[in-house]
Amino acid sequence: MARSSFLLTKFASIVILGSIILFLDPQVLAQDKIQLSIDTAKPGPKIDRNIFGQFAEHLGYGVYEGIWVGSDSKIPNTRGIRNDVVAALKALKVPNVRWPGGCFADEYHWRKGIGSRAVSLNPNWGGVVEPNTFGTHEFMDFIDQIGSQAYLSINLGSGTPQEAAEWLEYLTTPLPTTLQKERAANGHPAPYKIPMLGIGNESWDCGGNMTPEYYLRQLTIYSRFVRNFNPAQQGNQQMMKIAVGPGGGEARWTDWTETIMKAWQKRQWSWDMQGLSMHNYTVINWEKKFASVGFGEKEYSQILKETLKMEDLVTRHAAIMDKYDPEKKIALVVDEWGSWYAPLPGSNPGFLVQQNSIRDAMLAALNLNIFARHAERVRGSNIAQMINVLQAMIMTDKEKMVLTPTYHVFKMYVPFQDATFIPVTFNAGTYTNGDITLPRVDAIAAKDTSGKLWLELTNVDPNNAVEIEVSVTGSNANSATGETLTASKVDSVNTFDAPNAVKPRSISAKAQNGKLTIKLDPKSVTVVSIS
Ligand code: AHR
Repeated sequence: MARSSFLLTKFASIVILGSIILFLDPQVLAQDKIQLSIDTAKPGPKIDRNIFGQFAEHLGYGVYEGIWVGSDSKIPNTRGIRNDVVAALKALKVPNVRWPGGCFADEYHWRKGIGSRAVSLNPNWGGVVEPNTFGTHEFMDFIDQIGSQAYLSINLGSGTPQEAAEWLEYLTTPLPTTLQKERAANGHPAPYKIPMLGIGNESWDCGGNMTPEYYLRQLTIYSRFVRNFNPAQQGNQQMMKIAVGPGGGEARWTDWTETIMKAWQKRQWSWDMQGLSMHNYTVINWEKKFASVGFGEKEYSQILKETLKMEDLVTRHAAIMDKYDPEKKIALVVDEWGSWYAPLPGSNPGFLVQQNSIRDAMLAALNLNIFARHAERVRGSNIAQMINVLQAMIMTDKEKMVLTPTYHVFKMYVPFQDATFIPVTFNAGTYTNGDITLPRVDAIAAKDTSGKLWLELTNVDPNNAVEIEVSVTGSNANSATGETLTASKVDSVNTFDAPNAVKPRSISAKAQNGKLTIKLDPKSVTVVSIS
């Protein structure tokens, strides 16, 4: 071959090869690597597994159809509880389930849901009939089947201290009282364990529109008389009583936190609490909610910007708590959070049915990371809600079931349950869309109880991949193995017809020349173990 044509061919092949590389991966070439260092010498607090809690309210198809189909259903079930849902939830190692609400809790009368059931109404959510076929025993059976624990919300709004006290006696006493005998006759002689108890729900709003002072008086009464009698839950195993806390960042919410915490600091022996709740949904406009599917990059970036406000909210309320409780005895429990979008067209607006996209997976990861970074104070959270309602893990349609992108994030985060927080330092970079600029990368690290090191990486940028060069202080980072979740579009979802459109795939990387580099896809959540 003549030298000139050889050079020409070589030049052409470089151009072709170059364009193939560019065609394959234009974004990576355009970006710098982000250096991330994990400092195992400075372990932080435990990331309480209760941060990964769930919420199941009597709302739409959340309980009925989502969990409960009844024992005579054609859908495979165990004592009326659907087997497919139980198997999926077991894999999440759900630490606790908050039940029966929500606003529903402040109108719930537990006696209607034991023995021969009373049919009542659900005025909060669609005004539908509440059959009460799923009651106390069915709930306890459900959490037992999924390997979880109970977080009960008692009725402070329209109930009485006596009604709530009797519910707890019914559930927890081992002694032969009339209520214990009734429980035994209903199939459960042994006392149940109730590790978490919510004293009211949103008492500043649907729970009775109370002022902080009025609620405080109720709290002290309920806290005094609603007791857990289970011998296994005394001393340091005691049930956590969780007071209603703030619902946002405005002045009325800071007043609320101030009032409760100040009173707690000056409390007398006769009442106590161990947690303060906080609710915060990701909503930009309550009157004109965003669509959960069929949106573009603008809405993707707007929602993620909005959700990051959780950081400021937690910081602000934690600072108030620090004033009255510097030892951090009281946990901040974010027991309602997640995306709240417009109801899906054709659905009952009172049922809060929405789709769940890769944007929600990103949103979940960003919030879980905020809670983990505040693990000293945030020792519980419950995403709203578990099945078929708001930012659900699972959606069902008769016998069909689909796992959402948010489900996959919760599954990928299982190693972080009760793991020790390990600080990471990195320059997050920026992702910009129009007038919105967000940190491009987020990350947390933790050591699990067996000593294994885990790293979570979120690439918020929906267009560009990014490479992360990982180093671990005091040791070599040789390899990374785990899973990554991404999707083709910002609004990609799983449907009953295409249930695996958004699902995690395996990822691994090995150090080369002493450097461990992990490549993150655009809009992705990645969890790897580092060795
Ligand atoms: O999760 C739906 C509702 O949102 C809950 O019932 C209520 O507590 C909150 O306002």
